[in-house]
Amino acid sequence: MRVSARAGSITDVAADAIVVNIFEGAEKPGGATAAVDAALDGAISRMIKTREITGKANEITVLHTLGRLKVPRVAVVGLGKAPELDLEEIRQASGTFARTLRQRGCRRVATVVHGAGAGGIEAQDAAEAIADGAVRGLHRLDTHKSEDELEGKELSALTVVELDRGKLPGIRRGLDRGRVMGEATNYARNLVNEPPNLLTPERMAEEARKVAEEAGLEVEVLDPRRMQVLKMGALLAVGSGSANPPRLMVLKYMGGKRGDPIGAFVGKGITFDTGGISIKPRQSMDEMKMDMAGAAAVLGAMRAIGQLRPRVNLLGLAACAENMPSDRAYRPGDILTAMNGKTIEIIDTDAEGRLVLADALAYAVKLGASSVIDLATLTGACIIALGSAAAGIMGAPQEFVQQIIAAGERSGEKIWQLPLYPEYDELLKSAIADVKNIGERDAGAIQGAIFLRNFVGDARWAHLDIAGKESVTKDRPYISKGASGWGVRTLAELAHRWA
Ligand code: BES
Ligand code: ZN
Ligand code: ZN
Repeated sequence: MRVSARAGSITDVAADAIVVNIFEGAEKPGGATAAVDAALDGAISRMIKTREITGKANEITVLHTLGRLKVPRVAVVGLGKAPELDLEEIRQASGTFARTLRQRGCRRVATVVHGAGAGGIEAQDAAEAIADGAVRGLHRLDTHKSEDELEGKELSALTVVELDRGKLPGIRRGLDRGRVMGEATNYARNLVNEPPNLLTPERMAEEARKVAEEAGLEVEVLDPRRMQVLKMGALLAVGSGSANPPRLMVLKYMGGKRGDPIGAFVGKGITFDTGGISIKPRQSMDEMKMDMAGAAAVLGAMRAIGQLRPRVNLLGLAACAENMPSDRAYRPGDILTAMNGKTIEIIDTDAEGRLVLADALAYAVKLGASSVIDLATLTGACIIALGSAAAGIMGAPQEFVQQIIAAGERSGEKIWQLPLYPEYDELLKSAIADVKNIGERDAGAIQGAIFLRNFVGDARWAHLDIAGKESVTKDRPYISKGASGWGVRTLAELAHRWA
């Protein structure tokens, strides 16, 4: 989809449809909506009176203009209650009108900048939310279908129309950023939706190379031989049970000055998690193809960062392996030595994510990262704690954790902090090694963080447990059922803030 902006009045454009908006509870249309209403001889006001248009969030009403305007259709999208309007609502409204109008066969759509008038939101921010919402809303899960339900239906051009010429440069910057963020999120979603027979650790390596090529980044791919040399005993053990050998990818983006601090994003990339020898029950095991969502988010974020080019130094690591039971698999009872020399007693081979991350975190620190964020579908316990509304975050220092939560707020990704009280330190003490990979049942999500903390040295560090966020179980205004691409936008937003 082409996304662009132009100066003018929405009543003058030629397109297959134009989009205006209405707040919930508004008695009559205002601004551009009023102008369109006048051209339609009051059709919109009339429908507000009859309560066929209420302005509720994500309501959409499509009217035919019957020659009264240059365009054949007008869509009126609901923005909800005016005081509650935020960027998230604009993203949703945009996803809603983009999907609906595509379904009706519209190829070229023009819209006002929702929220920038009476809504009081900066035009640039609103434009970003519009592009992002539309790009994500139009994403479809059709790669492996032999028949396409939307065959031939493509919304190919979205034009944002603004009366005030002075606002155009900001709107263009916002649209560009929103499109890049939306596309990078869709890219991560595609990876997570891919089936595990096709998406192996090596395929993740190919994807990392592709991202590097497209976004102008450097890439390093470690295979088991290199891992052996680097003594990555934890990552190697998790991958040892599978015929698809593990890979560790490092994407490098050095947009800052030499000597500036280096940040690192580290993603869990288990391409399929059977549980290994501690095998999972059969119910819903197919869902464990999404266990590489952390790594996918890192690839997506690095792609967006490569395109937006903030002045910052960043590494993106993807720690990929397939967790399988076999005669070569690691076992409960094994003791592994991670790259940083710490020994790990294995209690349960299904707690594998923290093991691949152990070596990847140590490697990120070895490469010079002083701020490290890891993303992982790490524990079912995090879903028990927070449901699917928010990701969990744990880390230190507090100010670093706070920064990440704030970036999430801007991106529409909710993040809730869990504590790392000293009392929890006991949970993973092993009788025969430095640490064990799981403790008793309580505080499962926190145990994950307590474990990972052993491998980050002195770096500022935060762990995001995204189990529960990596996919949605039913269609949302701009997230279709399946993988969500959670994290891409928060990471890219952070890169922008660090610059
Ligand atoms: N990949 C799972 C966590 C998970 C579970 C993500 C459900 C999304 C949905 C992880 O590797 C795992 O198996 N964790 C175990 C940890 C346990 C062995 C301490 C879990 O959560 O049950
Ligand atoms: Zn597991
Ligand atoms: Zn897992």
